[in-house]
Amino acid sequence: MPVILAIESSCDETAVAIVRGEAGQAAEVLASEISSQIELHREHGGVVPELASRNHSLRLRGLVEKALADAAVTMEEIAAFAATTGPGLASSLLVGSTAAKGMACALDRPFLGINHLEGHLLSPFLHQTSVPPHVSLIVSGGHTLLLDVEGAGRYHKLGGTRDDAAGEAFDKVGKMLGLPYPGGPEIEKAALGGNPAAYDFPRSMRHDPHLDFSFSGLKTAVLYTLQKEQGNPSLADLAASFQQAVIDILIAKTLRAARQSGRHIVALSGGVSLNRALREAMRRACESAALELVAAPADFCTDNAAMIAFAALLRHLAGESTPLAEDIHPNLPLVCSRA
Ligand code: KG4
Ligand code: ZN
Repeated sequence: MPVILAIESSCDETAVAIVRGEAGQAAEVLASEISSQIELHREHGGVVPELASRNHSLRLRGLVEKALADAAVTMEEIAAFAATTGPGLASSLLVGSTAAKGMACALDRPFLGINHLEGHLLSPFLHQTSVPPHVSLIVSGGHTLLLDVEGAGRYHKLGGTRDDAAGEAFDKVGKMLGLPYPGGPEIEKAALGGNPAAYDFPRSMRHDPHLDFSFSGLKTAVLYTLQKEQGNPSLADLAASFQQAVIDILIAKTLRAARQSGRHIVALSGGVSLNRALREAMRRACESAALELVAAPADFCTDNAAMIAFAALLRHLAGESTPLAEDIHPNLPLVCSRA
């Protein structure tokens, strides 16, 4: 059974994973190491690319050694090496892809360059035996995407954000509310016990027939509310109302996408999909629309290398590899239709 080692270093997590699998069987995650740089970037209120890439270089070797030890496999047993090659920060992508190419070269194994978004998109199916046709919602710090998925490697974009990504909106509103970076998990915590109907924030383009998103109006509405209520607005109510508005928009567009494409399965992935209120609301919405929801396992929602290794495994099993000369692509889109 082929064993794949993958590196994820597109943003502020350095991650290495080892996954084993065979066609028609659920993949096995033998190791998944993540070294988060959140603390490092927190004092700057966001990711500093130079700090990120320097830290990837520092952490990577130790993480590869730990992954091999945890998985109890040797370098020689690895069938192919993979890395995220886009989209992401150029200097960060370079660290991971160069390391994976180096190992592939030294051991004379194939290299696979993986699209970070394909990793998120496939993550809900890590523990399943196949990737069925479905509608996929990817909600992360950098992207908000709705796709029609025919199967592994066959993706058609249905809609995306016209301004901020959902996670970006969480992070920016978190900052406005004086919460630490990243705002997503902090807003979820602050919203507990808050009234989601306390503020009637806009649900931009919710009823429009297209499948695009917009979160900048919502973000501005939170800012105006904060300015108006100089007194003491309830943090819990503000957080809960903002979170509810995001959830309502995401659910409305996802259900519309499922209706329009005629798919019966909805997949949910990306860092924002860790949000329990979103997962629960999406579960209920899918249930009443007779749709099956497959959400990414909690361990694989935020950036990780297991999802990259899994995407690479599926490509490796399909007989694919990436030429070593292929460069990183900081703005790589996810509109691929492989035969
Ligand atoms: O997928 P991810 O790790 O990185 C990207 O590919 O962008 O997603 C990170 C994003 C951040 O914006 C973070 O605030 C958000 O996911 N996030 C959350 C939660 N946990 C992480 N947003 C809402 N609720 C959460 N519990
Ligand atoms: Zn991501």
